[in-house]
Amino acid sequence: MSQTAAETILIIDDDDDLRYSLKRVLSSKGYRLEEASSGEEGIKQAQAVEPQLIFLDNRMGGMSGLETLQHLRGVVPKAMIVLMTAYGTTQTTIEAMKFGAFDYVMKPFDPKRILALAESALAAAHDLGKAEAASAQRTPAEELPEQEIVGTSPSMQAVFKTIGQVAASDVTVMITGESGTGKELIARAIYQHSLRSKKPFIAVNCAAIPDNLIESELFGHEKGSFTGATTQRIGKFELCDGGTIFLDEIGDMALATQTKILRALQEGEIQRVGGSETIKVNVRLVAATNKPLEDMVKEKTFREDLYYRLNVVRIRLPALRERSGDIPQLIEFTLRRLARENKTQAHKISPEAITMLSRYSWPGNVRELENVIYRSAVMAQGETILIKDLPVEIVATVAPDGLKDPAAVTVTDASTAEAAEMDSSESLGVNAHDTSEKVAAGIADFDRGMDEAFAACYPANKKLLLDIFEKAVIKRMLEVAGGNQVEAAKVLGITRATLKKRIDLYGI
Ligand SMILES: Nc1ncnc2c1ncn2[C@@H]1O[C@H](COP(=O)(O)OP(=O)(O)OP(=O)(O)O)[C@@H](O)[C@H]1O
Ligand SMILES: [Mg+2]
Repeated sequence: MSQTAAETILIIDDDDDLRYSLKRVLSSKGYRLEEASSGEEGIKQAQAVEPQLIFLDNRMGGMSGLETLQHLRGVVPKAMIVLMTAYGTTQTTIEAMKFGAFDYVMKPFDPKRILALAESALAAAHDLGKAEAASAQRTPAEELPEQEIVGTSPSMQAVFKTIGQVAASDVTVMITGESGTGKELIARAIYQHSLRSKKPFIAVNCAAIPDNLIESELFGHEKGSFTGATTQRIGKFELCDGGTIFLDEIGDMALATQTKILRALQEGEIQRVGGSETIKVNVRLVAATNKPLEDMVKEKTFREDLYYRLNVVRIRLPALRERSGDIPQLIEFTLRRLARENKTQAHKISPEAITMLSRYSWPGNVRELENVIYRSAVMAQGETILIKDLPVEIVATVAPDGLKDPAAVTVTDASTAEAAEMDSSESLGVNAHDTSEKVAAGIADFDRGMDEAFAACYPANKKLLLDIFEKAVIKRMLEVAGGNQVEAAKVLGITRATLKKRIDLYGI
């Protein structure tokens, strides 16, 4: 990358001749050059001129090069520093790199090497601004280029429409919804569809950061501004300049911090903690919360003015139980992802299991659904998730209602499409010389149905277990025997009369 004359390079060396020759070499490329003859002076100069690159001598009277380096890291954290040494020991080199030097050069130096080094260091400084902000809060979702959002329910379609309407403007968006409904996903979608999509997206979880640290996290701090502030720190707002900041769980933010957020939004400026300089920032804000902010405003735990400032556009994400029509699609989506990530063997699911999952109330919403699918896929023995693989607590909450009466046990007799079909064509049965393939498939289906019935009844409804199994065995035996009751009774080892009683009892 070619650099422009606007780049500033600071040379810190106590040797006048060296500064002079270095300046001559570098000025040939039109860089702006500044100099200092000691470490102490260099630190002051760095603060004043904010160079992108610093050439720093290792051995000077007063503060040493390595000491100066450590101070400079705090003062101009984004500057690239090249240490110059005539006494090139490995130890100095290692130390220099450890303290964050970009590179080092040996004196006497080769002008070509100096120019090449300057160019690559300045290119790195240029990239750092972008990269630093982008990697500041890297989360797995961010590594996916653009994440698919699933949902064909009218309520989700309305959400997508709003995203489309507001993404391109810089308007503040407030996303509400229960935990796990996809608030962060929607925040990222707004960012990805905005004009700021090439700039950083930084997510800050306000609930995860202690009150006394959140301001420094958001706005940065000056060295020594509080105990533990050993170096200067650049905050998320500054790093995110030009981009989108996502303040998650904003309802958990202390009132004092709320005031500063309001100022950042209204005036477009911030101050580092312990600093007096006013820094201009241009940041679009997306916020999320699962707390009732209106109530908090009434209780005066959330600033009313900030509330109105945030609430310009509001997106309410419906709970998953309010859009259960989306559940099958979300399940398929999750299974596809598991297959892609090669995490589990199972990447299919039985229709019965989908039905059962669609009836569950999902207090943890989409996140809980994803976890359940993952757990179930791990439990599954084959490539298909069956009811027996689902977490017991789900089966136990969903199943009992439908299982009061054996005759109404849909899980058993409708557990396979084939069985249901045979039900309605009782007298037909299986032709004596129907292929063994069909019988084998029938047995596999039967096993599957039994597994599902077992999972559905145990432990919630133990009494039903034997009845269900007996009914299923008799039914299947009759099918295999082509409806011949004498034959079926013989194979089952019971009398024809007993078989007849059971058939009546279960309404087969
Ligand atoms: N509509 C959707 N389509 C696909 N995946 C979704 C959808 N909604 C949520 N998810 C997934 O569900 C998980 C939870 O979503 P997210 O983290 O955005 O929820 P949240 O509302 O921010 O939750 P919390 O309040 O707990 O922070 C994520 O893995 C996300 O990718
Ligand atoms: Mg979240």
